Amino acid sequence: MSVQGRRVLLCVGGGIAAYKACELARLLVKAGAQVRVALTPAAERFVTPLTFQALTGSPVATDIFSAEQDLAAGHIALADWAELAAVAPATANLLARLRIGQSDDMAAAALLAIDPRRWLVAPAMNERMWASPAVQENVRVLKERGARFVGPAIGEMAERSHVGPGRMSEPGEIFKACADALAPRDLENVQVLVTAGPTREMLDPVRYLSNPSSGRMGYAIAEAARDRGARVTLISGPVELSRPADVEVVEVVSAEELARAVDEHVDGARVVVMAAAVADQRPATRAARKVKKQAGDETMTLVRTPDILAALGARAQRPMLVGFAAESENVEENARDKLLRKNLDLIVANDVADAFGKETNRVLILGKDGARRELQGPKLSVAHAIWDMVRERLGG
Ligand SMILES: Cc1cc2nc3c(=O)[nH]c(=O)nc-3n(C[C@H](O)[C@H](O)[C@H](O)COP(=O)(O)O)c2cc1C
Repeated sequence: MSVQGRRVLLCVGGGIAAYKACELARLLVKAGAQVRVALTPAAERFVTPLTFQALTGSPVATDIFSAEQDLAAGHIALADWAELAAVAPATANLLARLRIGQSDDMAAAALLAIDPRRWLVAPAMNERMWASPAVQENVRVLKERGARFVGPAIGEMAERSHVGPGRMSEPGEIFKACADALAPRDLENVQVLVTAGPTREMLDPVRYLSNPSSGRMGYAIAEAARDRGARVTLISGPVELSRPADVEVVEVVSAEELARAVDEHVDGARVVVMAAAVADQRPATRAARKVKKQAGDETMTLVRTPDILAALGARAQRPMLVGFAAESENVEENARDKLLRKNLDLIVANDVADAFGKETNRVLILGKDGARRELQGPKLSVAHAIWDMVRERLGG
């Protein structure tokens, strides 16, 4: 995704990571974006407006009451101007103000006048602050309102003895997320169905067979499609992720429930992306009560679960089909075989070592038309690359 000519408002909060916002501004300017900057009063204690003015070539908004700034860069003028508002670093304090609508400074006032769906928030704070129930609740609420988040990353904090999630994502990663957030609306009103997460195959009321899928890849695919204008239904196995705003979410647990949900929602979908890590087998029986410990070894009989992709691929009138292949060996060969066997249009293959539970992914995308693309990056960037390939093949 290119940021060339796009209008990005960079709102900088008063955290130690504010110095990294200078690098973010530089990356955006270098890539051809138009960048304006708003600093909170606390941010001015860490970096000077002059630094950002020199980097962006534009005056920096700091004072909500400045008559001069009101004309050139008043908070509403800035909000009207911005296509995207990057909040980096987003302090705990700024997150709280955005949640409750407190707008007593330039950055928060401009942000509140912008639809949260156009915010890209990069939190940065001490790991204990990040873990606090108050911050987590603010983040959840802002996500529900449609704000997108990048990071925080896990790593060493400014206080070097502290390590954990809370560190601001690197400027390069925030830059990529800005580019993704400015995606073209080239899937306007296209109906898509995405599956995500693991399934659980219950043995009894408290035990199940499953896999470590976090659902992040499928959720990123759903969010990327939504941002490009698609109408998205997301069928999700049990995951610990916030529900994406403006996406219809259908929650399922087992492979059979997932198959039924796909059947119910596939009509009208032009594209189906099966990113869920669906169990191939389930226990033949499910005990109604918790199975008691027994002496000696036990054997469990497994039976096949429905092959959802193959069933979709065999339909006479079928949507465009994108499958996933998590392989532990011969990735390309196995993926190509699955692509043909299940009559898919595209397959996204990865090595299990690169995929499960991580924020980034390294994938190989193969098309039945012979296309072959290798890429690595945040899951949202990979999601956009998949939609780029779908878009090229979708026709009008
Ligand atoms: C040296 C120093 C570093 C700080 N770093 C952070 C930080 O990384 N994240 C954070 O949420 N607050 C941090 N704070 C606290 C904020 O500066 C403070 O909460 C301030 O009110 C934030 O204002 P703002 O949200 O308007 O920018 C730091 C304070 C100091 C003195």
